[in-house]
Amino acid sequence: MADFVSEFWHWFIIVLTVGGLLAMFPLIILNRGDKPGGDPQTTDHTWDEDLQEYNNPLPGWWLNMFYITLVFSFAYLLLYPGLGRFPGFLGWTSLGQYEAERQAAEEKFGPLFNQYAAEDLKVLARNEEAMKTGERLYANYCAVCHGSDARGARGFPNLRDGDWLYGGAPEQIKTSILDGRNGAMPGWQAALGGEKGVFAVTEFVLSLSDREHNAQAAAEGKAKFQQLCVGCHGPEGKGNQALGAPNLTNRTWLYGGSQKTVMESIANGRQGRMPPHREFLGEDKVHLLAAYVYSLAAELEHE
Ligand code: HEC
Ligand code: HEC
Repeated sequence: MADFVSEFWHWFIIVLTVGGLLAMFPLIILNRGDKPGGDPQTTDHTWDEDLQEYNNPLPGWWLNMFYITLVFSFAYLLLYPGLGRFPGFLGWTSLGQYEAERQAAEEKFGPLFNQYAAEDLKVLARNEEAMKTGERLYANYCAVCHGSDARGARGFPNLRDGDWLYGGAPEQIKTSILDGRNGAMPGWQAALGGEKGVFAVTEFVLSLSDREHNAQAAAEGKAKFQQLCVGCHGPEGKGNQALGAPNLTNRTWLYGGSQKTVMESIANGRQGRMPPHREFLGEDKVHLLAAYVYSLAAELEHE
């Protein structure tokens, strides 16, 4: 039930609603006019010289509808929540309805997900019917972060480009979704002795993907890179999927590849977080989602 911060609002709503409805009765009775029959009265308004306005009583069908809506309002407010904290005699809540619908859907589709869960991920990824369901699940649970086309956004990896932080084998994708992932890249501003050091390493990182760079600074940066970065990004900067350390030698960037953004990544570090879905969605649905995500990248191989 709604949590009102004070008793006042609870009663405020009740008095206003019930009072308003009750006030309708005298209002309508006073205004309904006389029963039909007898000479029509006029309102004394005359337009265009002889056009008069009659003051006929309100039509019976209209009045009755009005009474019915008033009675309906009272019945509704007795049965459903609407009057302050009063829950209504039916005990209905939107949360309860959602739960009931969710449970019904679970009973209906649960066996289907269960059946898919028994299939090999690569086989499932070629099952068109299953992939349609996977697409809907994706739209519901993943698109907010990875984009409706799964091409990601800054800080949220593209799931179609075949470039994987944590690996693109079906089981690795499933692990990413089930247990989540935490990218942990510390900030290096201090260890690199400030901006100048960060600049030098940045120039070296840019050189890894054959980008324009300051050769002298890059040479300085290389030594630092070998000392501080290879532990995670690998001796050649090709990354490490066990740690989610990105490949720095290609032109795919998680956070952006401009000189300024790369400097920012290195100076301050980055902590991307993929939430776990094991509890939230259950293993069967995650299995289907893993097959779907795998199918997206597999699509790329055919292009
Ligand atoms: C402890 C392991 C670790 C070390 C050491 C490390 N990194 Fe990283 N780095 C990561 C991880 C993990 C990410 C991805 C962070 C995320 O997913 O949010 C990352 C991300 C980056 C990015 C952003 C890449 C992109 O695609 O946007 C750059 C640039 C980078 N690191 C450069 C460096 C440099 C230069 C050093 C050495 C000064 C370094 N890293 C040291 C783990 C590390
Ligand atoms: C709250 C935002 C968020 C949601 C929701 C989310 N993800 Fe992620 N996901 C991320 C981030 C951020 C990363 C990268 C983590 C990192 O930087 O280390 C990621 C990483 C991944 C990876 C690993 C990518 C790689 O390159 O290895 C996969 C696979 C993935 N997500 C799939 C999914 C699927 C499927 C769903 C829906 C069930 C989903 N994600 C929902 C934010 C999200």
